[in-house]
Amino acid sequence: MGEDIANLEIRLLLEGVHQVYGYDFRDYAEASIRRRLTHWLAESGFETFSEAQSRLLRDRAVFESLLAGITVNVTEMFRDPAFFRIVREQVVPFLRTYPFVKIWHAGCATGEEAYSMAILLEEEGLGGRYRMYATDINEAVLQKAGEGVIPITEMQRFTRNYQKSGGKSSFADYYTARYDRAIVAPELRKNIVFAPHNLATDAEFGEMHMVLCRNVMIYFKAALKERCLKLFDTSLLPGGFLCLGLKETLENRKLGERYEELAPSSRIYRKRYV
Ligand SMILES: C[S@@+](CC[C@H](N)C(=O)[O-])C[C@H]1O[C@@H](n2cnc3c(N)ncnc32)[C@H](O)[C@@H]1O
Repeated sequence: MGEDIANLEIRLLLEGVHQVYGYDFRDYAEASIRRRLTHWLAESGFETFSEAQSRLLRDRAVFESLLAGITVNVTEMFRDPAFFRIVREQVVPFLRTYPFVKIWHAGCATGEEAYSMAILLEEEGLGGRYRMYATDINEAVLQKAGEGVIPITEMQRFTRNYQKSGGKSSFADYYTARYDRAIVAPELRKNIVFAPHNLATDAEFGEMHMVLCRNVMIYFKAALKERCLKLFDTSLLPGGFLCLGLKETLENRKLGERYEELAPSSRIYRKRYV
């Protein structure tokens, strides 16, 4: 009974959020959004979702705290180093054949994935020949991404990731340490545009050579995953690359047959020309 009412309250709450703020979380995977919302409720001081609802719909600050509670923003530099090694060894040779390369990072969180890619492209001689669009639903994380601040406590782990990914220089060359923070070198930031974009409601980006959407769709139900994949497919040029997280795949997806996986289990898919 209690469980049923909480489920109903969550459905009503997500409906209200959609109608008032235009953010659509109705197609997020149920178990995970319920877990996140229950945690948010415990922190919020409200007794029940129904009690939270009336404040939520009237007070944008309460909505912002809910948004921060729903989205999982965990990320790291050179996350899954083997993935970046394959990009370096097997994707870059194709990218080099274009005069200019456009890349979309969908669900970029605090920007570490885009900065990692910028380091890789610079080392591979593509400096000045690329533009990245790094987008997220959560404007608070985008703000951090734009500032290029990385937690200094993580630097040892990130350095190991960088080395495992085939990094050619010293990772310390790419940031300046200031007290408890590391600031990403300005030349890595200049080719990245950070912007808000909602995969549940917004449109595609045009003529991309590469789209990365890693560790984002795991939180979505099947219909929303299909929407995202269609968006990426429309955004990608023929011969372009779609990169998913290690737990995500194009297998059993409608668009799967239009793509070919670059290396087994790499989750890097190349769009066919026909
Ligand atoms: C776990 S992080 C992944 C970050 C990075 N791609 C990586 O793999 O390290 C997931 C990100 O997806 C974002 N996100 C969730 N729902 C979204 C949506 N509907 N549209 C755009 N971004 C979304 C979250 O705000 C979060 O920053």
